[in-house]
Amino acid sequence: MAKELAFTCTACGAATSKWSGKCEACGAWNTIQEDTGLAAGPKKTSIGGRRGKTLTLTDLATQEAAPPRTLAGVEELDRVLGGGLVKASALLVGGDPGIGKSTLMLQAAARFARNGLKVIYISGEESNAQVQMRARRLGLDKSPVMLASDTNLRDILTTLEQEKPDLTIIDSIQTMWADHVDSAPGSVSQVRTCAHELTNFAKTHDMSVIMVGHVTKEGAIAGPRVVEHMVDTVLYFEGERGHQFRILRSVKNRFGPADEIGVFEMTSKGLAEVRNPSALFLSERGEPAPGSVVFAGIEGTRPVLCEIQALVAPSPHSQPRRSVVGWDGGRLAMIMAVLESRCGVPFTGLDVYLNVAGGLRISEPAADLAVAAALVSAREDAALPKEAVIFGEISLSGALRPVIQTENRLKEAQKLGFTTAIMPRAPKGTGASGLDLREMKDLAGFVEHVFGERQG
Ligand code: TYD
Ligand code: MG
Repeated sequence: MAKELAFTCTACGAATSKWSGKCEACGAWNTIQEDTGLAAGPKKTSIGGRRGKTLTLTDLATQEAAPPRTLAGVEELDRVLGGGLVKASALLVGGDPGIGKSTLMLQAAARFARNGLKVIYISGEESNAQVQMRARRLGLDKSPVMLASDTNLRDILTTLEQEKPDLTIIDSIQTMWADHVDSAPGSVSQVRTCAHELTNFAKTHDMSVIMVGHVTKEGAIAGPRVVEHMVDTVLYFEGERGHQFRILRSVKNRFGPADEIGVFEMTSKGLAEVRNPSALFLSERGEPAPGSVVFAGIEGTRPVLCEIQALVAPSPHSQPRRSVVGWDGGRLAMIMAVLESRCGVPFTGLDVYLNVAGGLRISEPAADLAVAAALVSAREDAALPKEAVIFGEISLSGALRPVIQTENRLKEAQKLGFTTAIMPRAPKGTGASGLDLREMKDLAGFVEHVFGERQG
């Protein structure tokens, strides 16, 4: 019988049949340890002495059936979910405190319940009476959603095991408490453990779970970020508190496109869908003013028009201010540098403020040209034509690059009554749009075309 290789070097992994002070293979001292694995099977495949079961392997071609989905019947929500709620999926909905997460969740719970799911809503923050009061305000008190107010994870899982719901909403994950973890609710280890247990439970019990998470300032309390990698879908609920618009954005989705948005309006009777966000974002726009530009953007799969506003004023400070809301500050600095070095439009000694109206947050580089236009328009105190939309990416050389989905942007602009588009050269195959297209090669040419004279 072959000798059992019962000892392993913890440094190089070499197996030997007897213990020695020095590993013959790598020469390290005191690294040989006896294996604790059982005699059955090769030692290397056992963990803590136990072997696992054999996996069933498949190939790349065999298609598994798509997971079943349930529609909420709220188009803005279903689109962000990638076409409804996937069975046995785990979701995270993050957002600032007070932004409307609980309101959204209660409304979604009622919709899913109406469409046949058994839904349990567990609040760790509010009493049943408080949730019921909100339900009354939203006109949802007749909805068959079941309710509990608790934070003990063990009790919650026991209840879920008995009740067998199709969907459970946990509001919020930061209030949940696993009694076998020795730290306070809201700490990183508690949030992580609770999210992990709930996700696991969901996968093994054919239940979907939506966990609400507060975005927190850096500090002792764990934000939703520590949970993001565990779940299938991560949605963020964004908006300005003083504004009525709310945007639900998917930042990760294993079952659909990421970066999709749903637009809602917070009313006195809860969140209402906004079917045509472009009209909403432009509704507050008055007569053409210097510094105001309409950007034809794309959010996820949908075109969205919005207004970009810039203000440029002489600075009393030795270090002029650059303030941005709704766009990337680093990108603003880049656009100003290109304007200065390629077009002779300097911003030295000037404070610069940039704002995306309506509380929208834009991350596409296609907004470059609209931002540049707003900056120059504000600096020159010259309004742009009211009937024009602008988009295009700017490279460091000052050249304009074509952007994705040009045709969709143009169609949306036309739908909203715009007649002109100022943009990079349209990619080949872009269909006719009925708009007057002013295709520009570079930023300097754009500044000259729109503002008449080159600064020098
Ligand atoms: P909430 O859903 O409690 O926010 P979160 O769970 O993200 O902390 O809602 C917060 C705000 O929404 C609250 O200040 C009141 C307002 N609100 C309305 O304007 N209309 C409504 O119908 C409801 C229910 C809330
Ligand atoms: Mg809440």
